[in-house]
Amino acid sequence: MACQIQLAVTYFVAIFLFFSSNSSLCCPQDQKEALLLFKELLIRELIQNQSSFQSLADLESWNSGLDCCNWKRVTCNSIKSSKQVNGLDFYYLVPSLSSGATVTTSILTPLFRITTLTLLDISDNSIQGEIPSIGFGNLTKLVHLDMSHNNFRGSIPRELFLLRDLQYLDMSSNLIDGMLSGELSALRSLRYLKLDENFLYGQIQLQIGNLTELLVLSLRQNKFTGGIPSSLSNLKKLEILDLSNNSLSMGVPPDIGTLPNISTLALSKNLLTGKIPRSIQEMGNLKTLQLDNNLLSGKIPAWLFHLKNLQSLHLGGNKLSWDNNAIIVPKFQLSELSLRSCQISGHIPAWISNQTGLNYLDLSDNQLEGSFPLWLAEMDIGSIILSDNKLSGSLPPRLFQSQSLSILALSRNNFSGELPETIGEADMMMLMLSDNGFSGSVPESLSKVYRLILLDLSKNNFSGNNFPTFSSESFLAYVDLFSNKFSGPIPTGFGQDMIMLSLGQNEFSGPLPRNLTKFLQLRHLDLHDNNVTGEVPSFLSQLSSLQVLSLRSNSLEGSIPSDLSNLTKLQILDLYDNKLNGSIPPRFGNLQGMIYPPDTSSISSALFSFPIQLEDLIVNWKASKQGLSRYNLDFYSLLDLSSNELQGEIPPSLGGLKSLKLLNISRNHLSGRIPLSFGNLESIETMDLSHNNLSGHIPSTFAKLQEISTLDLSNNKLVGQIPQSPQLDRINDPKFYANNTGVCGAQILVPSQEAPSTEYPMPEDGKSEGESFSWEAAAIGFPAGFTAAIVVVYGTGCFHIKPRQQRRRPRRSRHLT
Ligand SMILES: *[C@@H]1O[C@H](CO)[C@@H](O)[C@H](O)[C@H]1NC(C)=O
Ligand SMILES: *[C@@H]1O[C@H](CO)[C@@H](O)[C@H](O)[C@H]1NC(C)=O
Ligand SMILES: *[C@@H]1O[C@H](CO)[C@@H](O)[C@H](O)[C@H]1NC(C)=O
Ligand SMILES: *[C@@H]1O[C@H](CO)[C@@H](O)[C@H](O)[C@H]1NC(C)=O
Ligand SMILES: *[C@@H]1O[C@H](CO)[C@@H](O)[C@H](O)[C@H]1NC(C)=O
Ligand SMILES: *[C@@H]1O[C@H](CO)[C@@H](O)[C@H](O)[C@H]1NC(C)=O
Ligand SMILES: *[C@@H]1O[C@H](CO)[C@@H](O)[C@H](O)[C@H]1NC(C)=O
Ligand SMILES: *[C@@H]1O[C@H](CO)[C@@H](O)[C@H](O)[C@H]1NC(C)=O
Ligand SMILES: *[C@@H]1O[C@H](CO)[C@@H](O)[C@H](O)[C@H]1NC(C)=O
Ligand SMILES: *[C@@H]1O[C@H](CO)[C@@H](O)[C@H](O)[C@H]1NC(C)=O
Ligand SMILES: *[C@@H]1O[C@H](CO)[C@@H](O)[C@H](O)[C@H]1NC(C)=O
Ligand SMILES: *[C@@H]1O[C@H](CO)[C@@H](O)[C@H](O)[C@H]1NC(C)=O
Repeated sequence: MACQIQLAVTYFVAIFLFFSSNSSLCCPQDQKEALLLFKELLIRELIQNQSSFQSLADLESWNSGLDCCNWKRVTCNSIKSSKQVNGLDFYYLVPSLSSGATVTTSILTPLFRITTLTLLDISDNSIQGEIPSIGFGNLTKLVHLDMSHNNFRGSIPRELFLLRDLQYLDMSSNLIDGMLSGELSALRSLRYLKLDENFLYGQIQLQIGNLTELLVLSLRQNKFTGGIPSSLSNLKKLEILDLSNNSLSMGVPPDIGTLPNISTLALSKNLLTGKIPRSIQEMGNLKTLQLDNNLLSGKIPAWLFHLKNLQSLHLGGNKLSWDNNAIIVPKFQLSELSLRSCQISGHIPAWISNQTGLNYLDLSDNQLEGSFPLWLAEMDIGSIILSDNKLSGSLPPRLFQSQSLSILALSRNNFSGELPETIGEADMMMLMLSDNGFSGSVPESLSKVYRLILLDLSKNNFSGNNFPTFSSESFLAYVDLFSNKFSGPIPTGFGQDMIMLSLGQNEFSGPLPRNLTKFLQLRHLDLHDNNVTGEVPSFLSQLSSLQVLSLRSNSLEGSIPSDLSNLTKLQILDLYDNKLNGSIPPRFGNLQGMIYPPDTSSISSALFSFPIQLEDLIVNWKASKQGLSRYNLDFYSLLDLSSNELQGEIPPSLGGLKSLKLLNISRNHLSGRIPLSFGNLESIETMDLSHNNLSGHIPSTFAKLQEISTLDLSNNKLVGQIPQSPQLDRINDPKFYANNTGVCGAQILVPSQEAPSTEYPMPEDGKSEGESFSWEAAAIGFPAGFTAAIVVVYGTGCFHIKPRQQRRRPRRSRHLT
């Protein structure tokens, strides 16, 4: 059988040159066997784990009857009239995303026998487990090793540092931790070192400066601390230096500019202090300079504008300042510019108009004023971020005729006027106009922007009773119309990808439309402070993804449908301030989202995968109205049914809602006793049962409530002792127990079983403020005052004094984070 000679030359990113000729050479039997064993182990693991693996098709050519040098993904070279396997390219052999397949490091074991390997690429394969250190140590001829995008754990093994020929090492996107040992510097030939997106910590060792052949050094997104070692300035060949997203502190090394060939210097998202070093002006090849999100200070130097090759300049999110009066004639043509939070005042700098290739502009969080310049609208920039400034006036219609505009963020400015009809011509994905003075109705043409994912028009003065109707194929997922003057029926003309629909504080009216049920992905439905009428329809229970349902402050009537308890993800249900009657459905005790603590794995997949700012969710918390950040809602379980007309007894099943932090059923007509089971509400922080007709004792099980900090039982018909516990003893404001039939306890300095005496003065006037004994008891027929008090004391074993103002502790409103 004829075999092919394949000669592989590996250089830097391993370029293979193939020469073919006829020869009788074949790959060594032991190497063939090792590869066949690898294939067998791989397939066995995949079958065991029931993964589908369509793309293993390449391994079908791995036939024991053929020369392994002819197999796909295998390369050989010939040395002294024999052939050897020297390259294995197993990139994306196990497609992780498509099938969720995972394999363990044990499949690699056979490969460590092929000691002639110079190239091994096992990237993107979802391989799990510790790095097989002894194994890799065997592959002493390796020049190119790519193990990126797997799930390798543990620290970088010392054995790797013995691979003296290694030129290319990529271990990015794994779960590797530990310190980065100075022994790494033994890899003298290293030209390419990438350890991005791992969990490496400690200092970047000085010895890294011994790797003088390095062209690429990338340690992005780890946990490195300490300063950037000055020895980096030994790496004269360096072209890419990326240390962004670590916790590096101190200054940028002043002689960083002595690296003549640097094209990318990325130090973003660290804790770097000091000024931008002057030496950077020596970096004539610099294309990308990312120093954003550090603690750099001082003035932005004018010489930056003379860096001819600069294309991407990110300085935002530091403590830098900028003199906007200086005359700037830049020598660069940028594609990206971020000068966020650079204390820029005055107008949007005019020199930007000459940056004709600009695709990304972030000037947010400055003190820019004046109107949106027409020249900027005409530049066809992809992302324009001007939020948090003082810009005013209306938007030029030309802006939306841009061929490129995909993100427009103008939130928290003073823009006004109506949105131009041209808005439908832009191909935007995100439009953020929150907190401005825009008015008028939203042009119907907006519905033609078919790529739109996020629409934030909150806190403006928009009106109109006919919101644009988007097609059912629309990608729209986040719609925030909070705090405007929109009216008419609740809009449902969105596609089926809706995740958040926030319509609070408008003038929407009419019943909840059945068309809402098409939003099967909907997680937040917020309609608070509108004029929604009719009943709470039981079809809402079809919104199976719903996590937050706020219908507070509307005009809903009828009873609460028991079927809402089918919403297994529901964590926040707010029906405060409606006209709901009937009883609390006992099946609410089954609300899974209020029973089980939030799944921490789901928190990483939070509502938003991009950094945007949306208005908070308004809730009652600790007896006041507060905003809850939409980023943290996963952590909260709240049930607020207060200020309705609910009757009947409280279902004891509610005591099963173990992860509930707030339960507010106050201001209803609930009667009967407080269920003993409420002592099981182990996460409860705020419980408000006030202003009902509840009678009987406060359950002694309340002593088990470890987290409670606000408990309001006032204005009921409760009697008896307040249970004692360290936590309950802190709730000592008498107003939380006031206006009951007779509640006593050390907390409110009302002793039990005590005969009245002159030490406990009686209220002179039964109608005085803070009157504490029950008017119901008094109304039985006894005259108000002393006699009634006697009845209360003897009837319940308790005696009340008038709450004293000075015992009240100042209540600080705790803002939720
Ligand atoms: C594959 O399945 C086996 C048995 O079910 C399990 O022990 C192993 O952890 C799984 N491997 C991976 C990588 O998930
Ligand atoms: C290292 O390679 C030799 C063959 O050269 C082999 O016998 C040995 O098992 C390998 N060691 C490991 C840990 O794979
Ligand atoms: C590595 O660099 C350090 C200082 O940067 C130096 O002292 C040391 O001798 C170097 N190590 C080797 C092996 O060259
Ligand atoms: C920075 O790194 C953290 C993890 O350490 C990651 O969650 C975050 O997304 C990264 N941020 C950026 C901007 O890359
Ligand atoms: C910088 O790059 C140029 C062109 O690629 C090269 O000729 C020169 O040797 C490099 N300088 C250093 C110090 O490596
Ligand atoms: C833009 O560049 C031209 C020539 O390149 C120059 O004449 C003009 O003044 C520049 N405009 C601004 C605003 O810098
Ligand atoms: C916002 O603009 C209006 C005019 O549209 C002006 O009267 C008002 O003073 C501006 N507010 C601020 C804070 O600049
Ligand atoms: C909002 O718009 C209405 C008319 O629709 C107008 O009367 C009102 O003054 C506007 N409010 C603000 C704050 O601009
Ligand atoms: C409800 O959706 C249907 C199609 O799904 C549509 O024909 C109808 O107009 C919608 N009704 C409202 C009030 O939006
Ligand atoms: C709510 O709607 C009803 C009936 O449509 C109307 O009578 C009432 O005035 C509205 N309330 C508010 C606050 O707009
Ligand atoms: C809710 O679940 C109950 C049983 O768990 C079922 O009988 C009922 O049909 C469900 N309701 C809806 C609207 O799916
Ligand atoms: C007790 O009831 C009286 C009369 O209804 C009321 O004026 C007072 O505000 C109530 N006290 C508290 C603390 O709710």
